[in-house]
Amino acid sequence: MILNEILGIKYPVIQGGMANIATGEFAAAISNAGALGIIGSGAMSPEIVRKEIEICKSLTDKPFGLNIMLMSPYSDEIAQIVIDYKIPVVTTGAGNPGKYIEEWKKAGVKVFPVVSSQSLAIKMEREGVDGIIAEGMEAGGHIGEMTTMTLVPQVKSAVKIPVIAAGGVASGAQLLAAEVLGACGVQLGTLLLVSDECPAHENFKDVIIKSGSNKVTVIGRIGGVATRVVKNKMTRDYLAKEKEGWNKEQLEKFTLGALRRAVKEGDVTEGSIMAGLDIGQVEKKDCVSNILNNLMKEYEREKGDLCKN
Ligand SMILES: Cc1cc2nc3c(=O)[nH]c(=O)nc-3n(C[C@H](O)[C@H](O)[C@H](O)COP(=O)(O)O)c2cc1C
Repeated sequence: MILNEILGIKYPVIQGGMANIATGEFAAAISNAGALGIIGSGAMSPEIVRKEIEICKSLTDKPFGLNIMLMSPYSDEIAQIVIDYKIPVVTTGAGNPGKYIEEWKKAGVKVFPVVSSQSLAIKMEREGVDGIIAEGMEAGGHIGEMTTMTLVPQVKSAVKIPVIAAGGVASGAQLLAAEVLGACGVQLGTLLLVSDECPAHENFKDVIIKSGSNKVTVIGRIGGVATRVVKNKMTRDYLAKEKEGWNKEQLEKFTLGALRRAVKEGDVTEGSIMAGLDIGQVEKKDCVSNILNNLMKEYEREKGDLCKN
């Protein structure tokens, strides 16, 4: 896997830009441990984004990135901040970053959009991005329809630029599988939620540790935005309202601030506990450095064992 060489870091691993979670401090901890830390700008105001970048810069001299949720009303301003601060890498979620790409490229920013379909990957390559993060529906948070197993090889066969696999990667075997499917590296979300450095509330981390994959569901498939989360009172109420025929606007209002409630206040009953299907593999809290070291050791072991199977 060569993503580490492309990014000038130790491991072929990107930390997913997670709204409400991936602060400048968290991103710096990830970069210091050898992966690429990403500040998740989510719905942050431009002032907060600047502050988090300053914090990240003060805590690491390693490369780091910024994730922009393209649904954010501040996308245009944050896109400019990327240029002003010479952020080395930008990842984007929830849409097509096409209109920003030319200016980012002129500024020397590496651009990696997160895509959930082959057609968007092809379009993004034509618009000049540096690589594609192909995210399967095993992932936590907003999801598409395809699985990592089917999406990664289809994107790989359609584009010439590097492909990074995301969604459902939490072990060395899955890292190796991603490589075999054609990925040059992976993006991780759920596995890093339980790291000591992750600023999520302990209640949130405890749910991630205790839950098996059967505790995960998808809300928003009928009338909202499909989102993978852990089942709780909020998801039961949401799914009932979806069946009643609530529209997208009503459903969005219903979940407004729900991720923040779970992550910051520890409200795991009414809050939104976004997590991927790999939740069943995440069994203990540890520091980022150990989590990444163990993952890479497992990967090397699996690679060696592959020939014996
Ligand atoms: C709590 C949570 C919040 C997330 N927020 C974002 C986000 O703001 N922007 C984004 O592009 N992806 C977001 N994601 C997706 C991750 O960046 C990553 O692609 C995904 O978690 C990978 O799948 P995994 O959870 O199975 O490792 C989020 C995921 C989680 C679990």
